[in-house]
Amino acid sequence: RAMEAPPPLFLPFLLLLLLLASNTATAARDGCSEGCDLALASYYVTKNMNVTFIAQLFGISDYRALAKYNRGLPRIDYVTTGDRVDVPFPCKCLARPSDPASTYLAASIPYRVVTGETYASIASNFNNLTTADWLQATNSYPPNNIPDDAIVNATVNCSCGDAGISTDYSLFRTFPLRDWDTLASVAATRDLSSPEQMDTLRRYNPGMDGATGSGIVYIPAKDPDGSYRPLKSSAGKKGFSRSNSRKCCGWCSGTSLGCLVILVL
Ligand SMILES: *[C@@H]1O[C@H](CO)[C@@H](O)[C@H](O)[C@H]1NC(C)=O
Ligand SMILES: *[C@@H]1O[C@H](CO)[C@@H](O)[C@H](O)[C@H]1NC(C)=O
Ligand SMILES: *[C@@H]1O[C@H](CO)[C@@H](O)[C@H](O)[C@H]1NC(C)=O
Ligand SMILES: *[C@@H]1O[C@H](CO)[C@@H](O)[C@H](O)[C@H]1NC(C)=O
Repeated sequence: RAMEAPPPLFLPFLLLLLLLASNTATAARDGCSEGCDLALASYYVTKNMNVTFIAQLFGISDYRALAKYNRGLPRIDYVTTGDRVDVPFPCKCLARPSDPASTYLAASIPYRVVTGETYASIASNFNNLTTADWLQATNSYPPNNIPDDAIVNATVNCSCGDAGISTDYSLFRTFPLRDWDTLASVAATRDLSSPEQMDTLRRYNPGMDGATGSGIVYIPAKDPDGSYRPLKSSAGKKGFSRSNSRKCCGWCSGTSLGCLVILVL
């Protein structure tokens, strides 16, 4: 009878290996496995906008909560055209409604639609922190049929850092480039322009080195207490990391068949 034990264990183990292999494969794409509790949206203030409006867009009822993230602004209740306001939001690992296997880091901020609004008009409130195309990709309503009063996802991308690049940073600003901005010019205004720091920034923002005038870059940001947040353990690492697989396998070998089956399921 003892001879019969190995086969039932073998199948789940094989499935587990396949699962780990496929998860490791997604790490090469955009995918994420976990988010982080904080990211910042760099909101470019345009005409006729005030912090009450900006805070409400992100579901923050009291604009004064923004003050500690914007110590560089003389007064949070008096922002003017051209200022940038950092708005805090949780950065989650989400999946597209049309393709649950395709994950990305973003906040899905509930937005109540007013009659006649389109993905383009909703996106325009966010001043290039999101786009009509990206809203369409992350909401199930077809673009020409968004019900009045519906709650849609205002999806704003974010970053939690990447241990493969640097463990110095885990808090990032989602920064839409304005006409005159480049990765280097933004780095300069944030004191991140040493050659080493620029090199790190380029790795966080592949393909954005020569970009100007549009697109989003991710820039390390300081905590309200004025220091960069280091990346802890595997948090925020893209995809299913090798250390996670190892931890998982160690755990599996020490536990019963039942656990394996649950894990595989
Ligand atoms: C923002 O504008 C609204 C109306 O446009 C006003 O009621 C509110 O007091 C303003 N908030 C601030 C902080 O200025
Ligand atoms: C958004 O980006 C477009 C160019 O892609 C630019 O013309 C427009 O001024 C930007 N709007 C804001 C508020 O930054
Ligand atoms: C957000 O990230 C996804 C996945 O990386 C990307 O396809 C999309 O274009 C991004 N959206 C914006 C507005 O940058
Ligand atoms: C908003 O996104 C969530 C997943 O993040 C999804 O479950 C939900 O269906 C989306 N809402 C709409 C209106 O598509």
